[in-house]
Amino acid sequence: MGEFKVAPGGAAVQNLRPEVRAIGAPCFVTAPMKVLIVGSGGREHALAWKIADSPLVEEVICAPGNGGTALVGRNVKVAATDLNGIVTLAKSEGVELVVVGPEDPLCDGLVDLLEQAGILAFGPGASGARLEGSKLFAKELLDRHRIPTASWRRFDRVGAAKAYLEQCTTWPQVVKADGLAAGKGVFVCGDAKEACASVDLMMEEGAFGDAGSTVVIEEFMVGEEVSVHAITDGQTLLILESVVDHKQVGEGDQGPNTGGMGVYSPTTSLSSRMMQQIEQHVLLPTLHALRTDDIAFRGTLFVGLMLTEAGPRVLEYNCRFGDPETQAIMRRMKSDLVPYLIATAKGELEGMEAPEWNDEMCVGVVAASEGYPGDYEKGHRISGLEQAEEVSSVVTFHAGTRMDGAQTRTNGGRVLCVTAMGGDKGTARRRAYEAYDHISWPGKFCRRDIGERHAGGKSNPPGSSS
Ligand code: AMP
Ligand code: GLY
Repeated sequence: MGEFKVAPGGAAVQNLRPEVRAIGAPCFVTAPMKVLIVGSGGREHALAWKIADSPLVEEVICAPGNGGTALVGRNVKVAATDLNGIVTLAKSEGVELVVVGPEDPLCDGLVDLLEQAGILAFGPGASGARLEGSKLFAKELLDRHRIPTASWRRFDRVGAAKAYLEQCTTWPQVVKADGLAAGKGVFVCGDAKEACASVDLMMEEGAFGDAGSTVVIEEFMVGEEVSVHAITDGQTLLILESVVDHKQVGEGDQGPNTGGMGVYSPTTSLSSRMMQQIEQHVLLPTLHALRTDDIAFRGTLFVGLMLTEAGPRVLEYNCRFGDPETQAIMRRMKSDLVPYLIATAKGELEGMEAPEWNDEMCVGVVAASEGYPGDYEKGHRISGLEQAEEVSSVVTFHAGTRMDGAQTRTNGGRVLCVTAMGGDKGTARRRAYEAYDHISWPGKFCRRDIGERHAGGKSNPPGSSS
């Protein structure tokens, strides 16, 4: 689980000593600064919690934030998608750094607007964010630069997509909406009937609006799924600690995909040999590809990969931190995050030492509203948050919550992520579930098998769901 700092362009990977502590970069700020975090999920609460702890930071402002960010910063009612509103807020508050959490404002060019206004921002501009915002763009870049991925075809018309699927002889096939679909635009289809129904849903019924007017149909890859988080200024890549989320709603990885039902870090399933392959065959070529294509990318590169028999192959790119992955990464990061965010935004990552990490395990259990990822109720009173935080080494990050006076209420599908540290995974899990069990509202549920994933994606639930 060592950190790597990678110089791009094929330079040797440098294994950094675990005892490295100091942040060797030049000091960028003269006075405590204001930081604006854009977004309202668990990821943004975890970022706000970590950033508020920095001696470089005077105040954290969140737009719009949630019930948890209000505890570590100041929420301002500006939507993450209100790009001009965010720029105006950053200017009027004299914010020195903006950290953009979600993909939508990144893809819509928020960072470009902030930069035009002379405000430092962490996150790629719209051209770099297309890596996540358009599957087609990502697949074309992957092929152009010979980065391993599933073979694929593009379709702009329903008839052509269905004709292709009818003559396919290998199944499953994977049908993907080209654009952003809140993580719901990918269907692994077992036969032509199912695949044609997915095409209809996207292209005829417009389930994802414009995002589904073009589809990518790709080969199904077999292997273990992993993801890698790195921050990059386009020149230097700093790979963060390994982290695994649990995407499906049900125990044993059953049921529909969600944004993520829980998380643990680190994982042993990524050997250092595999990590080197990923660096050499995927991450460094991706940086090279972006530079060759004249795309400045400063922010988080979060890559989903399938470890196939032929080596690691790209499933998808994300241009932002994962949620709930960030909650575990922030719990385990001992160094101050802020210098890394600034160095990334300024293109000065090269001078940085690797961050120091807590060697303990982190497990995070998402507490969700009944019905999620489908329809769910909002507005329930949440009780037991104080008792939960009394459990040793527990921090509860809010996602879909809002404050109603002094009362916290549910306000989303994923409501909380209860994280705990422990010397081993068992201890971290026990603490996380003990804390989770203190919290209640009508319809609360979680997966009871977070942290129990085995190779091949199988899980082993230790108890029943509440
Ligand atoms: P994506 O949003 O592209 O990562 O897809 C969502 C999920 O669908 C992934 O996490 C995989 O579990 C699955 N998936 C996507 N593409 C493929 C593929 N080509 N082969 C196998 N599984 C896939
Ligand atoms: N947890 C997966 C994601 O943030 O995309």
